[in-house]
Amino acid sequence: MLRKFLRKDFDKWMIPVYNPAKFIPIRGEGSTIWDQNGKDYIDFTGGIAVNVLGHAHPLLKEALEKQLDNLWHIGNGYTNEPILKLARKLIDSTFADRVFFCNSGAEANETALKLARKVAKDKFGKHKNNILSFKNSFHGRTLFTVATGGKSEYSKHFGPLPKKIKHALFNDINSVSKLINENTCAVIIEPIQGEGGVIPADISFLKELRNLCDKYRVILIFDEVQTGIGRTGLLYAYMHYGVIPDILTSAKGLGGGFPIGAVLAKKELALMMTVGTHGNTYGGNPLAGAVASEVLELIKKDKIIDGVKERHMWINSHLNKINNGLHIFKEIRGVGLLIGAVLDEKLAGQANKINILASECGVMVLVAGNNVIRFTPALNISKKEIDIGMERFAKACKLISK
Ligand SMILES: Cc1ncc(COP(=O)(O)O)c(C=O)c1O
Repeated sequence: MLRKFLRKDFDKWMIPVYNPAKFIPIRGEGSTIWDQNGKDYIDFTGGIAVNVLGHAHPLLKEALEKQLDNLWHIGNGYTNEPILKLARKLIDSTFADRVFFCNSGAEANETALKLARKVAKDKFGKHKNNILSFKNSFHGRTLFTVATGGKSEYSKHFGPLPKKIKHALFNDINSVSKLINENTCAVIIEPIQGEGGVIPADISFLKELRNLCDKYRVILIFDEVQTGIGRTGLLYAYMHYGVIPDILTSAKGLGGGFPIGAVLAKKELALMMTVGTHGNTYGGNPLAGAVASEVLELIKKDKIIDGVKERHMWINSHLNKINNGLHIFKEIRGVGLLIGAVLDEKLAGQANKINILASECGVMVLVAGNNVIRFTPALNISKKEIDIGMERFAKACKLISK
């Protein structure tokens, strides 16, 4: 028999791009996780905004098991029923009328950017190839997406990078006006910057951005990898803003824990990608299709999105209560179940330390940079789990403020 695996094995065997927590989770149910020693943790991370229906949801498990008995993988030489069902559901629920499937958020953004470059070149000529993104943004870890993202620490080691990418200031339309022109083919933006610190775009900013894109015939891409699938209290965040993008990328919550990415587009753009211009091996596989379809089904049937606002209020009232006693946050911001607690100056740079203390106290949280504690729990997290998790988080906050 193999010996028990230990956290230190990670340091011996893995390429060290991560520094995972000291404990190893082995089981999850709802929003509770158990580690190898039987200690339980309340999960406010949702697997980084992924497990929208919590861990081990019985009906998602059933959907996966049913598909496992039939067809796992078939390759893109054939289509399959589960993925067609999912495509139909996404089209029926959004502005889009064509979908492309892949395996992650980065791949979805990579596809969207390639699509935009091709459409602009074919329609207007090869001068129209500039991409405009935003400082502090995050779009994934492929070479194109780290170059597009607004944090140089993710791209600086890997040059030469793809060219013709500029970065404007988020929520600053003057900065966009200075950089957008007839040579711009696409603007890519997160309606709420997630990794960058949980910063929502202003409605007026997104509206003016849409106008500028129309003026210069620029494709507007909304990266809804983190904000999608009900996280903000509507299926996609663009629905709050009343601003419709030309392309939307989705991943994370779409599979509820099973890897899948999707690019949603209007027909006139989508049809400029022809057979052979793009593809992948696993995208649109029947297992991912079956699970994601069930995620959308359950979210609708169980009215999961209707409960997001209430859960936002429960979490925020706990955070405010903690803050009234300890004064450790200078702002609590975010929408729905994408919440950021911004650390006060006196704790500047200590987000990771709080994260570690939190897990010692039995609650899992995320950070977004060095100064923001991020909460992205399952959309169906219970009141009891929130109360217990927040009591434990309050203990961690007391420890840090000592
Ligand atoms: C807004 C946004 N875009 C893209 C990505 C990349 O997604 P993935 O890690 O699935 O490649 C992330 C991941 O955190 C994200 O938050």
